[in-house]
Amino acid sequence: MTTDTLPEATSCAAATETPISTWQMRRWPDTRDTRIPAWIYSDPSLFAREMEVFHDGPGWNFVGLECEIEAVGAFKRSWIGPRSVIMVRGEDDHIHVLENRCAHRGSQLCWENKGVVKDFTCPYHHWNYDLEGNLLGLPFFRGAMGKGGMPRDFQKSEHGLRKLRVATLGGIVWASFSDEAPSLEDYLGEEIHSLVLRATGGGKKKLRLLGYNRQLLPCNWKLYLENSRDPYHATLLHSFFLTFGLLRTDTAFKAVPTIGGRHGIMASTYSATTAGQQNEVTKQLANLKTDFKLEDMEVVKPVDEMGDSAMINFSVLPSVFFQQHGNSLALRHLVPKSASQTELSWTHYGFDDDDEAMNRRRLKQANLMGPAGYVAIDDSEVLARMQPVAESAPESVQVVTMGGVDHAPQDTMLTETLIRGFYSYYREKMGL
Ligand SMILES: [Fe+2]
Repeated sequence: MTTDTLPEATSCAAATETPISTWQMRRWPDTRDTRIPAWIYSDPSLFAREMEVFHDGPGWNFVGLECEIEAVGAFKRSWIGPRSVIMVRGEDDHIHVLENRCAHRGSQLCWENKGVVKDFTCPYHHWNYDLEGNLLGLPFFRGAMGKGGMPRDFQKSEHGLRKLRVATLGGIVWASFSDEAPSLEDYLGEEIHSLVLRATGGGKKKLRLLGYNRQLLPCNWKLYLENSRDPYHATLLHSFFLTFGLLRTDTAFKAVPTIGGRHGIMASTYSATTAGQQNEVTKQLANLKTDFKLEDMEVVKPVDEMGDSAMINFSVLPSVFFQQHGNSLALRHLVPKSASQTELSWTHYGFDDDDEAMNRRRLKQANLMGPAGYVAIDDSEVLARMQPVAESAPESVQVVTMGGVDHAPQDTMLTETLIRGFYSYYREKMGL
């Protein structure tokens, strides 16, 4: 081929331009955050961009609990968005978070959820890594019978697993793919930072793992994130809450978006004395069952272990919801799999100084949560039915004006301020 037959430089340049995705051609239906377009729940190219911005981007993701990996070599497989990571206790006794992807051909290295190992070996070509992710060796490094093998200049030190930034707070492990993420403390902000400490024993206690639930939700991850920032639905959808008094619309409540809507706090007080009672507020609630009784009231009767008579639940973007329902403490890990599928992984915990009675109470109250929980099952059902509606009518629009049009803190459950706050933050980061 001569230079005359080479294609023109201009056509090469055109071929490398980034194609415009469907979502980039769409417009948000309102200049404010009181409308949500349905197309954000089903577009695969938008989903890919969300993962880049929020999960791989300059923030911190929940990975697991320190108490899940106490011995050297103990590991837990976890997820940051659709990407798998391994949280492992190294020989140095520090916690390392490694991308679960062999540096050779990109195979998933670790296929088990938990265990204890001396090192990691990829099932595909047996490349072997230490607990800190360094490549120790690979089969036929120098070939065999004088043939094959790696080039002489191949440096094992350049082919380790990808190592993530790691931070811990209150016994909880967080990781980030991004070098640009601020410190965990700054990312969480003052309010969430202190709530993480409150939920984990104020830095004085050690967490104790109580168990797991996992479920696959057939819906977009944002539908669940909205649900976890939506106090308005709590006593309407969840008749169990209302009927047995763990959460009522007539109790003191605070909804507080923080850092421009990045995170969201819902704080309420327990109302045992009004359980089952009718008043001006509950008259509007069709789901209050005044003739229902529980055989065992311990399921809904908390002990005020934090000393402030409050139940504080909060959502930390992008991946975790801190749950305090009575004495049921859990972290709900939100793991987006695709635009239309999300895994929800619950880690239930208590403290290592819990007595037997508290342990029993936590386990009983955990029955409200999880895939078949007396309360949580309602959310899964509703969200599973929302997704096909959103997919079938992508141009349709949702309205979130309960409690106003801005995202200021409010002291009522009858508000969508946390959802508006999230979308204000989301739109800014996504450029929508
Ligand atoms: Fe709910």
